[in-house]
Amino acid sequence: MSRALWLSHNPRRGAKPPAWRRVLAVGGAAVLSTTALVGVSAPALAAPGCSVTYTKSWEGGNGFGGDIKITNTGDPVTSWTLGFAFPGSQRVGNGWGGRFTQSGSNVTVVNENYNGNLGNGASVSIGFNGTFSGTNANPTAFTVNGTTCGSTGSNTAPSVSLTSPTAGQSFAAGASVPLAATASDNGSVTRVEFRVDGALVATDTSSPYTFSAPGLASGNHTATATAYDNGSPVLSTTSTAVTFSIGGTQQPSVVATPTSVTLASGGSGTSNIKLSAAPSSPVTVNLARSGSTAITAASSAVTLNSSNWSTGVNVQFNTTTGTTTEVSTFTASASGYNPAAITVTRQGSTGNGKVDNPYAGASMYVNPIWSANARAETGGSRIANQPTAVWFDRTSAITGNGSPTTGNMGLVNHLDEAVTQDAANGTSALAIQIVIYNLPGRDCSALASNGELGPTEIDRYKTEYIDVIAGILARPAYSNLRIIPIVEIDSLPNLVTNTGSRPTATANCNTMLANGNYQTGVSYALTKLGAIPNVYNYIDAGHHGWLGWDDNFGPTAQLMHQVATMNGGTVNNVHGFVTNVANTSALQETFIGPVTEQLRNTTWIDWNRYNDELSYAQALRTRLVTQGFSSNIGMLIDTSRNGWGGPNRPTAASTSSDPNTFVNQSRIDRRIHKGNWCNQNGAGIGERPRSAPATGIDAYVWIKPPGESDGSSEYIPNDEGKGADGMCDPTYEGNPRNGNNPTGALPNAPLSGHWFSAQFQQLMQNAYPPLS
Ligand code: BGC
Repeated sequence: MSRALWLSHNPRRGAKPPAWRRVLAVGGAAVLSTTALVGVSAPALAAPGCSVTYTKSWEGGNGFGGDIKITNTGDPVTSWTLGFAFPGSQRVGNGWGGRFTQSGSNVTVVNENYNGNLGNGASVSIGFNGTFSGTNANPTAFTVNGTTCGSTGSNTAPSVSLTSPTAGQSFAAGASVPLAATASDNGSVTRVEFRVDGALVATDTSSPYTFSAPGLASGNHTATATAYDNGSPVLSTTSTAVTFSIGGTQQPSVVATPTSVTLASGGSGTSNIKLSAAPSSPVTVNLARSGSTAITAASSAVTLNSSNWSTGVNVQFNTTTGTTTEVSTFTASASGYNPAAITVTRQGSTGNGKVDNPYAGASMYVNPIWSANARAETGGSRIANQPTAVWFDRTSAITGNGSPTTGNMGLVNHLDEAVTQDAANGTSALAIQIVIYNLPGRDCSALASNGELGPTEIDRYKTEYIDVIAGILARPAYSNLRIIPIVEIDSLPNLVTNTGSRPTATANCNTMLANGNYQTGVSYALTKLGAIPNVYNYIDAGHHGWLGWDDNFGPTAQLMHQVATMNGGTVNNVHGFVTNVANTSALQETFIGPVTEQLRNTTWIDWNRYNDELSYAQALRTRLVTQGFSSNIGMLIDTSRNGWGGPNRPTAASTSSDPNTFVNQSRIDRRIHKGNWCNQNGAGIGERPRSAPATGIDAYVWIKPPGESDGSSEYIPNDEGKGADGMCDPTYEGNPRNGNNPTGALPNAPLSGHWFSAQFQQLMQNAYPPLS
C-alpha cells in the first residue's frame, strides 16, 4: 500500500478556484437583521479595555469563516458593540453569537440577549461565514463600545491555577489524589499538563482539566499544572506549586461493580455499590453525576451498614431515547472512603438498528496472531493486548493461508475467537475490525502492495471475495458482535490525486479511473456489508498530507458520496471514515498550533490547509456531511505509528522568528517529507486505541498492526502479487509524490505485511505517549 500520493502545491495552484464551492449556510447561525440595530443605543458604559483575536477558521473557493474572541480587559459591561473594517472585498454572510451588519467594509456586531454581560477578564466568542474575492487579509483594528482595543492578534501566555489538591491537604495511604486546574487564554488552551514532584503524570486537552493520580508514596509531594496556548509560538504558564501529603493509614473505599455500564437508547441497567471494609455506623454513599443529562440514577444516595456493606446495593441507571451516544460519570462518594466512579454510556439509536458509535462502551477484539508476534518481542508484552485490525488482503486470507502475520486463522476462526472474547468481557459488546483490501488493480500508485487481482477482475472481487465475506459476517452466530470493516485503503484517494494530467499521475491509476472498478468494487462492498445489521462500514480517507489541499479535499468528499450512492447504494451504508491508515502523520502538532497564512507558506506545510490528523479528520467530517453523508458519521484515526516520541521529539515550540525554522524545529512529525510512507525511520507508537477521544471522532484505532512492514526495497519472490517499491529503499531519491526527497525508510525491510522486528522495536522506543 502506498500512502504517499502527495501533490506539490504552490500559491498559484492554491489560488485556482477549486471544483467545489463551499455552501455558506451553516446551521445554528443567527439570522442577520439590520433592523435589529435600529434604536440600539449603547447604555451608559464604563470605558472598557478590550482585546480581540480574529482567526480565519476555513477558506475555500470564494468562501471563508472567521472566529472572533472579544475579551473585556476593563470595567464590566452589560452590552457590547464590536466594530471593525475588512481590508478587502469580504462580506459577512451569516454570523452567530452576535447580530452582524455590514456597511461597505465596516462590520458592526451587537451582542445577543444572552451574552451582553462581560465582566473584567471575561470573553465571548462569536463567528461568521462570508465570501470574498481577490485577497482575504484579516482586519487589524477593532473597537468595542467605541473604544479602540489593545493588541489584535498578539499572543499572551495563558493563565492557570491548580484548584486541587489544596495547599497542605492530606490524603490517606492508597488514595488517588484528585488533580484539577482551571486555565484560560486570549486564544485557547490546547492542553494542561499535571506534574507531581516535577514528573509529568497526565495531559488533559479539554476543560475541566482533571486527573486522578494513583499510587503516590507516603510523605510530602508537590503538584503543578502547566497550560499551553494555541499561539505561534506556543506560550505556556506553570501554576504555583502546591504541597500536599499522603498519610500512613489506608483509607477504605467505595467499590462499584461494574465501573462501566453500556445501555441502549431508552434502556436501563445497574451497578452494585459496596464498601471495602465494614463500617462502624451506617454510611451514606452519595451519587453525583457529571456529563450528559440523558442518563439518570434512580437513587441519589444509598445507605450501607454492618449487614449489607459487603454484598452492596444495586443502583439503577435509566436513559432517555435518542440518536446520539451519551456518556455520564457517576461518582459514588462517602466521607472517610475513597470514591468510586461509574461510567454509563447510552448508545444512540440510528433507526436502522445500528448504534451511533460502535466503539462506545465496547471492548475490542485482540487478534491472537498479532498479539503473539508482539509478545515474542522483548518488551512487546506492554502492547500485545491492544486491539489491531485483521487484514483480509487476499482471497485466501478468508480461509487462512499460513502467512507469517495471519497464520492459519481465517475469517471464521477470528469471528469464533471474537465470540469467545465477547463471552469473557461481561455485559459489554465486542467490536472487531477487519480490513477489506483486495480491489482489482490494487495500490495503483505504488508497487509494495499490488494485489492478486488484475485491473479488470471485478467479478472475481465480487463473487470470490466480498460475497464470501458477507456470507460469513451475516451468520447468526456472529450477530452480537459489532463488525467494523475498514473499506479499501488508498483506493478512492488514489483516483483523486494520481490521475489525469497531474505530475503525480500513474498509468495504473488512470486505468482504474477509466474502467471504474475501484468505484464499482467499493460501492459493492459497502452495499453488501452494510446490509448486515451489526456491520459498520468505515471508508478509507487518506490523510492530511495527501488530501488536505483544496483541490484534493472537496473532490474527495464528492467522490466518496458518488461511490456511496451509485448502483442503488445509500449513505446509510457508511458509518464513517478512517484517516491515516498505515501512515505516520502526527495527531496534533501542539507546538505549531493553527495553520495561519504565514505558516502555510512554509516548505513543510506547503499551502496545505491542515498540519495534523485531528484537525483534518474533523474538517473532512464536516465537509462530508455537507456533501450529503449523515450527520451521525464518525471518524477513526489510525494512531498505531504516529507517536514520534523518543529523544528527538521537541519539548517546546521553537523561538525562531523565521517561519520555516519555527516549523521545522517545532514539528512532532519528523519525516523528511509528508509524502514519505514506507517504514518511516524515527516513528513511534501513537495514542492507544480508545473510543470517542475528541469531537466527531469515534475512536483512535490501530488499523496497521505495528511491526508489520509497509514494503520491501528489493524484490522478494512471493505469491502475493507484491513488488519492490523505491519508496521503501533508504537510498532512493524520491519521485513527484514525495517532492523528490529521500524516503526516510528503514533499511532491510521484508515484504509488506510481513513481520519487521527492527521496526517494531523502534516503534516501541519512540512511543508517545511513552510505554510504561
Ligand atoms: C500489506 C498487507 C498487510 C497489511 C497489514 C499492507 O501493506 O499489503 O498484505 O496485510 O499491510 O500489515
